[in-house]
Amino acid sequence: MSTPSSEPASAQQTSREEGEILEIRGGRPLVGRVDVKGAKNFATKAMVASLLGETESVLRDVPDISDVAVVRSLLEVHGVGVVEESEGVLRLDPTGAVSANFEEIDAHAGASRIPILFCGPLLHLLGQAFIPDLGGCRIGDRPIDFHLDALRKFGAIVDKQPSGIRLSAPEGLHGADIELPYPSVGATEQVLLTAVRARGTTELRNAAIEPEIMDLIAVLQKMGAIISYEPNRVIFIEGVDKLRGYDHRSIFDRNEAASWACAALATDGDIFVGGAKQQEMLTFLNVFRKAGGDFDIQEDGIRFRRDGALRPVSVETDVHPGFMTDWQQPLIVALTQAEGVSTVHETVYENRLGFTQALNKMGADIVVHPEGIASPERRVPRRALEQAAVISGPTPLHGADVVVPDLRGGYSYVIAALAANGTSIVRNVGIIRRGYEKFFDKLTALGADFDVIG
Ligand code: EPU
Repeated sequence: MSTPSSEPASAQQTSREEGEILEIRGGRPLVGRVDVKGAKNFATKAMVASLLGETESVLRDVPDISDVAVVRSLLEVHGVGVVEESEGVLRLDPTGAVSANFEEIDAHAGASRIPILFCGPLLHLLGQAFIPDLGGCRIGDRPIDFHLDALRKFGAIVDKQPSGIRLSAPEGLHGADIELPYPSVGATEQVLLTAVRARGTTELRNAAIEPEIMDLIAVLQKMGAIISYEPNRVIFIEGVDKLRGYDHRSIFDRNEAASWACAALATDGDIFVGGAKQQEMLTFLNVFRKAGGDFDIQEDGIRFRRDGALRPVSVETDVHPGFMTDWQQPLIVALTQAEGVSTVHETVYENRLGFTQALNKMGADIVVHPEGIASPERRVPRRALEQAAVISGPTPLHGADVVVPDLRGGYSYVIAALAANGTSIVRNVGIIRRGYEKFFDKLTALGADFDVIG
């Protein structure tokens, strides 16, 4: 791949990683090694947890992605000292935390969904909080009703305003009895981050139990919290008066690891993902194998490649321990090359299959049924928002001009373009930086043929 030769190396690196438009010449297998750091969907939450401590926290393996930058900036406007001690190691000092002014917080409106998790810690610390309009990927309505209902049960007063949400807790927060309508990841984190310092005990039923949540529980326990859980999605939290800082290494990003695994499958490549672990990826690995993938679990990572022709699979996304919604988009790219008809039933978000239109433009044969798959006996109670994609393969892919719609969809477009014959233009790739660290460098390391053209 080519870069302007007159710039110093560091400037080249910055402009390359910040590019928005890629020209990709496909048809080449991705081969080589990439390393994954801490999970986007954990590290950002652990950073918020640092607000609860009375002393400094150290978070290790923090990925250099824009969601982390947003949370860092929000912590800083609240007076938390954040220092990157060395690559991926953040020191977070909450001892000077203060109320931020509206303009500073509002500057983060629309940038990420994580700010909603500041509610509990800020209410404990300052008795009030202001949360700007939330951003994140446009993959559905993404309401926050579970969060706000839970916060009210803890005793918070919630005032929705046109520019955001103002919360206060004049009498402090107390333990609560909460049953989530659905095991929401974010709402479970909200309850954990609020209950640990609330007066009394909290019982949370129908909680999410994703590995990233278990790692957040581990962080909170290191800080002095008392949290126990039962097999049936019940979590008990005994509130404590004070918490201290933590020193913790983030759980690896299993979504990124699964993405590279699918890239190996789609391009008929061979990718070693350093830092990937088996335990947290069991469900993914089963589907990967059924689809014709082969993997070797090694001490320091997992090697992914094909095992002959790709085979069709039938997958339903679900909460953990099911097949994660974040895995389906890169998998669908690989399934366009499977010999037969696959189905992917999305049960978590109502608009996470729209990205398939661009794959069809590249030669795929994917039909999306907006009402999901009819079945009277569903493992997960049927939700109104389900969709199903039927993917008929194998279909050779060809180059196209496509615009990235969201994080995982965007990653999938890049992989599809790399698997396709001919040249593609992929626009709006900046979104991919929200969740994939050093994305262009990793593509280069795997032998991808592309240029940053805008
Ligand atoms: N939901 C509600 N009301 C709420 C909260 C959620 O109706 O108050 C609904 C959502 O609209 C959605 C479902 O419940 O239909 C699941 O949402 P959940 O709260 O579990 O998701 P989240 O916390 O907003 C996190 C990840 C997502 C990941 C989901 C599911 C972060 C920052 N985001 O979102 O990650 O898909 O859990 O595992 O942790 C990604 O990484 O690309 C991504 C979108």
